[in-house]
Amino acid sequence: MAETETMNAIRYHAHGGPEVLQYERVERPKASAGEVLVKVHAVGINPGDWQIRSGLAGDAFPLPYIPGWDVSGIVAAVGPGAERFREGEAVYGMTANSAGCAEYVTVPESQLARKPEPLSHIQAAAVPMSAFTAWHALTEQGQLKPGQTVLINGASGGIGHFAVQIAKLNGAKVIGVASGRNEGFVRELGADEFIDYTVTPIEQLPLAADLVLDTVGGAEGDRLLNALKPGGSLVPVTYGQYSVDRVAERAVRILPVRLLQITAADLERLSQLFDEGRLRVVIDTVVPLKDTRQAHERSESRRTRGKIVIEVCQQAQ
Ligand SMILES: NC(=O)c1ccc[n+]([C@@H]2O[C@H](COP(=O)([O-])OP(=O)(O)OC[C@H]3O[C@@H](n4cnc5c(N)ncnc54)[C@H](OP(=O)(O)O)[C@@H]3O)[C@@H](O)[C@H]2O)c1
Repeated sequence: MAETETMNAIRYHAHGGPEVLQYERVERPKASAGEVLVKVHAVGINPGDWQIRSGLAGDAFPLPYIPGWDVSGIVAAVGPGAERFREGEAVYGMTANSAGCAEYVTVPESQLARKPEPLSHIQAAAVPMSAFTAWHALTEQGQLKPGQTVLINGASGGIGHFAVQIAKLNGAKVIGVASGRNEGFVRELGADEFIDYTVTPIEQLPLAADLVLDTVGGAEGDRLLNALKPGGSLVPVTYGQYSVDRVAERAVRILPVRLLQITAADLERLSQLFDEGRLRVVIDTVVPLKDTRQAHERSESRRTRGKIVIEVCQQAQ
């Protein structure tokens, strides 16, 4: 195959630990109808990348598999019927079938928008899935209203650091939960109160939140129910264990976890917030494409502050 028909990518042929990630030459994709071929400058990491790699999603994603959903880059070509973008434009968005950890990827034009002017490609690649999930959980599912109190569990993470800012933009009072090392960070994002979960058990505090956003999940979900006032709602963005009895006893609601598909309109709404300087993205770590393994290891540690991004092309800054 000619050099111009192939590209560098990160790919795996079997599920497993970070060691299954291989830096390989693979076939370069071509834009089909309604798609845009993006020369990838940067790709954002999400916990879903290593969850799928570990095999948690079973066979839902066929092997061999190129991870990476959130991309920022330059339009290299447009497919038949794709009319919104021209070659050379800077764009960001979410792919339909991952494959972002590569020099080129195809993206439906319906899941792309022009890159926000103030953001570098590295910053823009960190935005789509996390910021949209935070926005959707708070304003669409949670129906957050000005003056309400929201508790954000995991306030320093990829979703959480956007959620703190979006809740404040919506006029809410924000209680952020993370470990003590992140207190300054979470308060600086706008949180009114901070709880260090390593020191203070949430279930022992006299809290009365209208809404809880749980980005952590797991076995300790029930503790969060105590933070809600009767009639309040908990929106989980990942799977947690909440007992039916406790939910009934507390007269609260658990909303379902939704797996979301972003649209161009969602991206444009986020772009406007960045363009106006009302939302910011915080980058934890940047690693080159060939070292994607390190990015997965860092994300898997669950200690990320903000977002981890892979730099695919030197002009990503
Ligand atoms: N539904 C969807 O469409 C969707 C989309 C994207 C992601 N997700 C899921 O949402 C979850 C969160 O994603 P993310 O990107 O925000 O994760 P992340 O960036 O890895 O979250 C890391 C943060 O979580 C905090 N944390 C860890 N354990 C905690 C605990 N016990 N209590 C409170 N905070 C804790 C950490 O703070 P400390 O270091 O201070 O502990 C860290 O800052 C993942 O499971 C992901 O798969 C769902």
